[in-house]
Amino acid sequence: MRGRFITFEGSEGCGKTTQIQRLRARLEEEGREILLTREPGGTAAGEKIRDLLQHAPEGEGLTAEAEVLLFTASRAQLVREQVMPAIERGGYVLADRFLDSTTVYQGVARGLNASAVAAINRFAVGECMPDITFLLDLDIQEGRRRVSERSQGDEDRMEREPDAFFEKVRRGYLDLAESEPERFIVLDAMKSPDQIAREIWNYLGE
Ligand code: TMP
Repeated sequence: MRGRFITFEGSEGCGKTTQIQRLRARLEEEGREILLTREPGGTAAGEKIRDLLQHAPEGEGLTAEAEVLLFTASRAQLVREQVMPAIERGGYVLADRFLDSTTVYQGVARGLNASAVAAINRFAVGECMPDITFLLDLDIQEGRRRVSERSQGDEDRMEREPDAFFEKVRRGYLDLAESEPERFIVLDAMKSPDQIAREIWNYLGE
């Protein structure tokens, strides 16, 4: 029996993590094996990469090209070490970000060549594509408000990007969802967490 691979995408503050926790709790009640992943990270090597990309001073000078390779290196490791084995065992994998983050943040917002990013993404994940992707769409000012409440002034490298960057992220996600309607479900992240959780549950048909 093959499991299910469900990814959550959206910009900072959109509520992905809350929804993943809720879905996990609900699936666990049904006795399913669940693997939660977050990106970058999720493996020993991936967590080192996460630190470099988000917090370490050495990450400050990273070029956009190096950045895309580091995000996808972390993912290549995660897919083979954790995601594929869990799906093959019949588990549910709930991913806090996956390859769409790279398409949007590095491809659209950083403006790297889209076909190069697509090729790097494909190489990194191989055959491991999500069955369904929930995009939590949020107004960027509301996202900023939620992030600054959470981080209390200690924002990471990406969170310090200007509004124009996050406008591109939001638009990039919506365009991507429109181009792959069979995989993406777009949800309004201004709704209450309860309402969003109900919608996710209904879409999954559990
Ligand atoms: P998060 O843990 O709050 O989701 O933060 C991860 C950050 O990394 C977020 O700013 C988005 C960014 N990111 C990319 O730019 N490209 C990627 O491929 C991934 C996975 C994340």
